[in-house]
Amino acid sequence: MKAITVANDADYSLCWQEVPDPTCGPGEVLVDIHATAVNRADLLQRAGNYPPPPGASPYMGLEMAGVVAATGETVTQWQPGDRVLGLLSGGGYAERVAVPATHLLPLPAERDFTWGAAICEVFLTAFVNLFREAGLRTGETALIHGGGSGVGTAAVQLCHQAGAKVIVTAGTDAKVACCLALGAEFGVNYKERDFAEAILAHTDGVDVILDIAGADYLVRNMRLLKSEGRLVIIAVLTGAEAQIDLLELQKKRLRLIGSVLRSRSDEEKTAIIAAFKERFWPLLVDGRMRAVIEDVLPIERAAEAQDILRQNRNIGKVVMQVRP
Ligand SMILES: NC(=O)c1ccc[n+]([C@@H]2O[C@H](COP(=O)([O-])OP(=O)(O)OC[C@H]3O[C@@H](n4cnc5c(N)ncnc54)[C@H](OP(=O)(O)O)[C@@H]3O)[C@@H](O)[C@H]2O)c1
Repeated sequence: MKAITVANDADYSLCWQEVPDPTCGPGEVLVDIHATAVNRADLLQRAGNYPPPPGASPYMGLEMAGVVAATGETVTQWQPGDRVLGLLSGGGYAERVAVPATHLLPLPAERDFTWGAAICEVFLTAFVNLFREAGLRTGETALIHGGGSGVGTAAVQLCHQAGAKVIVTAGTDAKVACCLALGAEFGVNYKERDFAEAILAHTDGVDVILDIAGADYLVRNMRLLKSEGRLVIIAVLTGAEAQIDLLELQKKRLRLIGSVLRSRSDEEKTAIIAAFKERFWPLLVDGRMRAVIEDVLPIERAAEAQDILRQNRNIGKVVMQVRP
């Protein structure tokens, strides 16, 4: 098969080239990939800063949609020819991948592979962090930083559908406008106004924050949280080291939560996917929630596709077509 490999040069050049085929172990399914999508983590992996977890494919790509080519021992729920989408620990930037059978969802007949490739990583990340880690409840208020990102556009919709109020920050007015259209009630362009001041002028605080910024936002995030508020940090785009006022943490009874999806065990991912499928999957299938897609490029243009994320130009997902 072919996969995107990373050259050992200064630019970490990408090349679509022949590599060995993956093999399908017990409990796994071999999928012919039709589409995959770019995630921020891919940029880190490309530069050698986010190695795949043990046992994962060495290639980039955390999600895909395709057609089942073969099934391993003990797999009964999938047959060759089934159209699927799935969460991967790696290997999406390729023609074929082996994936645990329980990490797949059925691609609805009326949806195409582009749609399927844009769902898993961002919806499952938003879901696990908002609902399982932070315990977001109906009627509470959630603040989503990076509202225009892939994860952000998924998070806004999940909060809205769960009956929570949603506030976002984003770096352009177009990203804020997209979030308002997806169900956010208030948004701040953080490049034009201090987000904490703007949010405190609008509301008396928030219950849950999904944060991607880390260090530079920590003090303001803690200020914005109401008593018993929960701050989930899923990335540290402004830095990883910060000072924390433990007295404020204690007095407001705050919870500070760090979280990663990729390195969780297969069993944990299976449970997350099953819980997501039960609660939110029907809303995606019937169109009440949607995959927000900025662009679709052929996999041979993976470097260009990644540049869109690197330059923060995307609203939602950038998808790559592997087969026509
Ligand atoms: N922990 C996990 O399991 C997990 C899983 C998936 C994703 N993530 C993380 O979640 C984030 C979103 O992922 P994604 O793939 O959806 O990313 P994405 O679409 O590339 O969006 C990331 C957005 O972050 C904003 N941003 C960039 N630098 C920033 C900075 N210094 N301060 C504030 N905002 C900044 C940019 O939007 P603006 O124009 O608004 O600045 C950018 O578009 C990424 O950081 C990713 O690593 C974590």
